[in-house]
Amino acid sequence: MSFVITTPLYYVNDKPHLGSVYTTIICDSIARYKRLVGEDVIFITGVDEHGLKIQRTAKEKGIEPRTHCDEISEIFNINWKKWDISFDRFIRTSSKNHELVVNEFYERVKASDDIYMGVQKGWYCVGCEEFKDNPENSSTYKCPIHQKNLEWKNEENLFFRLSKYQDQIDNIISDPSFIEPIERRNEIVNFVSKGLKDFSISRTNVSWGIPVPKHENHTFYVWFDALLGYVSALNTNTAIQSLEKSINDGWPADLHLIGKDILRFHAVYWPAMLISAGMKVPKKVFGHGFLTREGQKMGKSLGNVLDPNLLLSKYGNDPVRWYLIKDITLGNDGDFQDKRFVDIINNDLANTIGNLLNRTSSMSRKWFDNKVPNNNEITSENKLEYLAKRSVENYINNFNIYKLDQAANEVLSLAINTNLYLNDNQPWLLIKENDKLPVVKEIIYNVLESTRIIGLLLLPLLPELSSKINVQLGSTYQEDIPWEQQLKWGLLISNSPLPKPSPIINKLEYE
Ligand code: MSP
Repeated sequence: MSFVITTPLYYVNDKPHLGSVYTTIICDSIARYKRLVGEDVIFITGVDEHGLKIQRTAKEKGIEPRTHCDEISEIFNINWKKWDISFDRFIRTSSKNHELVVNEFYERVKASDDIYMGVQKGWYCVGCEEFKDNPENSSTYKCPIHQKNLEWKNEENLFFRLSKYQDQIDNIISDPSFIEPIERRNEIVNFVSKGLKDFSISRTNVSWGIPVPKHENHTFYVWFDALLGYVSALNTNTAIQSLEKSINDGWPADLHLIGKDILRFHAVYWPAMLISAGMKVPKKVFGHGFLTREGQKMGKSLGNVLDPNLLLSKYGNDPVRWYLIKDITLGNDGDFQDKRFVDIINNDLANTIGNLLNRTSSMSRKWFDNKVPNNNEITSENKLEYLAKRSVENYINNFNIYKLDQAANEVLSLAINTNLYLNDNQPWLLIKENDKLPVVKEIIYNVLESTRIIGLLLLPLLPELSSKINVQLGSTYQEDIPWEQQLKWGLLISNSPLPKPSPIINKLEYE
């Protein structure tokens, strides 16, 4: 059984922004962690290319939608590689394979008698690609997410009988593990309790979409198309393109990680569509919060959009990852503040972790012939060993329930405790006393060993920094030995050579 994790399939109206980078980094961290604990992971990301929003974006640029999509999809793909995202699949909803899956899915839903023709009237937000529930002053009302006016639509569309699935959806969302975090779940429970209404799944005014079979001029509504991307992404065998094949290749997804604005689609519409098609529902939908910048919503009109690639080239991958993972509780809204960013990176990564490694490695090299000291004389469990074991346990428990910030904090607190241990024991004074050599060996060994464990714990969070720590300790993570086994205390090899230390992370300047 595979562990299937997905990011949302991003709209290609623009290149990735900090919000999409955030979701993708969190998914990447979880995917890396799951691989380390032995799961066979399928990490899916990709792009949502159809619909009115994309059609209009291409028109504004004066190019064909396909040309526009090719360009932006490639930017996404290249970007994720630059960010060292360990995705296994990149799905484009304009691909032929995906279209076949959507068609087959539609046939199944139709066979369940869940499709009918009706008239769709209402106020539509093109940015959200969603009808809004009769807002007051609809003609002047602006969508709070996109800050754009709604558009009135009145057209003949095909509908999906969502109302038929009221009881099943009630039942699914009553399981507290289905929607997280709890506050988001409450919003959905509240929405569902008002009664589910059928929704339209085709459009007659949108040419950039998958044509609905036997309904000329109708294309599938972009959500009825895009959600299927999670399924079609599973099928990598281009010779056999079928829904059944995709299902057998890993469905259902274990975790859809998405932003809070698209929770309804994932936690209500999507499960109902899947049941109608005789398919299993995803195991969990996690709705994370929104990122703001210096307390303000990011937007082109506000001129405060933070280009993630500038951050990447200026500071590197690990600092951005650390800030987003450690400073924001997954599920809550988060704020990106330049000064806070610099302070956190300098304190946590450069001072607490980087300096610890550097100074201990230097001491060890100086006193023990450029090597890790011999720890053969250590017999009893020491304080640091106890603290490291406790941190490993807490880290794993937190990671398993997607409390990534707490897992990150656990690594940091082990580094803080290790610094305290070093400062309390003052080996630089003890080394001057002849009879204290065994004690000094023990202290230095313990600190280096704790640092090795810190490095390993950082592997899913900060892959680059983790491997730099390893290199500095002359001890590499071994892919053929289970990661959790390598977290056991005492595996750093006595008398192994310690390479010349160099800073694993540079201090950042606040401009
Ligand atoms: N195409 C749909 C998803 C289809 S999934 C089958 C979509 N795309 S999106 O590009 O508009 O949004 C992708 C994700 O980015 C959403 O989960 C959204 O919540 C998230 N974010 C957009 N702006 C954000 C922030 N400022 N902060 C955090 N995430 C935000 O919706």
